[in-house]
Amino acid sequence: CGIVGYTGPREAFPVVIKGLKRLEYRGYDSSGVALLNDGKLNVFKKKGKVSELEEHVIGKDLHSHIGIGHTRWATHGEPSDRNAHPHQSQSGALAMIHNGIIENYTQLKQELTSKGYTFNSDTDTEVLLNFIEDIKINNNCSVEEALRIALKRVVGAYCILLISADDPETIIAARKGSPLVIGIGKGEHFLASDASPIIEYTKEVVYVNDYEIAIVKPDELILKNLGNEKQTPFITRLDMELARIEKGGYDHFMLKEIHEQPDTIFDCLRGRLLAQSGQIMMSGVENHLDAFINAPRIIIVACGTSWHAGLVAEYLIEELCRIPVEVEYASEFRYRNPVVHKGDVIIAISQSGETADTLVALESAKENGAFIFGVVNAVGSSISRLSHAGAYTHSGPEIGVASTKAFTGQLAVLTMMALKIGFAKGTIDETRYQHLLVELEAVPEKVKEILKDTSAIERIAKKYKDASDFLFLGRGYNFPIALEGALKLKEISYIHAEGYPAAEMKHGPIALVDDQLPVVFVATKDSYYQKIVSNVQEIKARKGKVICVATAGDDVIPGMADDVMLVPDADEAIAPLLSVIPLQLLSYYVGLAKGLDVDKPRNLAKSVTVE
Ligand code: G6P
Repeated sequence: CGIVGYTGPREAFPVVIKGLKRLEYRGYDSSGVALLNDGKLNVFKKKGKVSELEEHVIGKDLHSHIGIGHTRWATHGEPSDRNAHPHQSQSGALAMIHNGIIENYTQLKQELTSKGYTFNSDTDTEVLLNFIEDIKINNNCSVEEALRIALKRVVGAYCILLISADDPETIIAARKGSPLVIGIGKGEHFLASDASPIIEYTKEVVYVNDYEIAIVKPDELILKNLGNEKQTPFITRLDMELARIEKGGYDHFMLKEIHEQPDTIFDCLRGRLLAQSGQIMMSGVENHLDAFINAPRIIIVACGTSWHAGLVAEYLIEELCRIPVEVEYASEFRYRNPVVHKGDVIIAISQSGETADTLVALESAKENGAFIFGVVNAVGSSISRLSHAGAYTHSGPEIGVASTKAFTGQLAVLTMMALKIGFAKGTIDETRYQHLLVELEAVPEKVKEILKDTSAIERIAKKYKDASDFLFLGRGYNFPIALEGALKLKEISYIHAEGYPAAEMKHGPIALVDDQLPVVFVATKDSYYQKIVSNVQEIKARKGKVICVATAGDDVIPGMADDVMLVPDADEAIAPLLSVIPLQLLSYYVGLAKGLDVDKPRNLAKSVTVE
């Protein structure tokens, strides 16, 4: 979900609504705002996208110098007007928005119900709000004090913004496990779940930490811990550009972000990869080389697309560093009481740096003495702060819900890491090391080459858009890319798609093959090439439709496949950075051909800050 708040001399509503639009990628099933005029709280909320809320408030009293707003990704309670945030307390005096999940809300709700409270929604948020109000009334204390007492009883994750009818200036905020950034203006403050709604007003921000409460007035920001002790706010300067969070002439963020990849990969390599002098400069790795070299094993923890980057890293690190690697879904890893020892190295991969499952998995591994290395895109995010060391992917803000440029940024960072560690460890010979540096350096230009003409991919997308299923197959370094291709298609086009190791296909999925099934092979020229050619024949023999990502200049595959998407030649360890690009475009153009909202696919959220 996305949250926004404002307190200061401006009209709050336009600031809040614009912020919600910037954050809409985080959740978009309903939205709402709370404003305060003349001691009266005005709350407006609406199921659907932020634009529907805008229509809903036409002609209403929107005057206010303080405001909080929310765009929701439903957890408790279906998407509807009544379940949208902000919620109001029973007396009507408090309005609150909340990201996260209150796990013990049923118990709190029972307590309140027995005291006569009734509820207007099915949300855990309304329960927490009335719990705060109940404490305030019983203890005859301030809202801030009541919030502090309430939070000590809360199990779960939250980022809360709270305003009160009798205080026209103050937003009270609190966070645990769900992000909150406060922008510092001149006589005004901006609050949001990430910096994107804030940067057009100010570049000075404070990242609120877990278990902190912020009391935010136009010209004062007080941070306290739950023990009521003041904390010194640490001000960070953002170097994000506004242009990077706008569409810049493209129809969709997803398309813009796909096309940005020559630049984002270049930015990621810049200053780090020095091919001519044969060096990789990554201080996060350099300062902890011993930890990596002596690691008995490396565990990679991630979710979604980032998990696929982790799978590519498994191939890279095992080949180049000879260190055993396990790649774990964060949600499974954290709940199964995993074996983690001191000395184990954990690499956490996350675009947002806020994914709740990944974050909590790391917290417990850290307690067990593991060394945590973060590969994160969002600067200053929770995972980057929790890690002992890390490397940012420098892909810039990614707004399209389906991850594209962040994925190639992750691959670029992980490749550099494997090369650096392998070279230091002596498990990669100098010639191959040098060769891979040069190959990696060439990636931005080669991606540009792929993006120069996407008409073949558009045509293929139109041809297969009505298929009900797709199979994606790959081997070796390209196996995770097959998984990623299938995930992208599912997310954007709602077509059922499965990714599989090409050889494993014989053990099940081959039963699905008939003349209706498009099968996408990631079949670039690598050490598995001959084998994958045989797999293509196995599908052709069963009349499946074969679409191949193939290497330019290959004269075998194009003769066998129904359709081909070409990528420039590259070493197999580098190839995933190229072979994923046509698959991103394929899913984009299929979604587009089906008339779907590719930037905001149904049911998904960009940053999943609930478990
Ligand atoms: C969500 C997004 C995916 C993303 C995953 C992990 O499901 O829709 O695109 O891959 O979360 O997110 P992270 O920010 O941790 O990489």
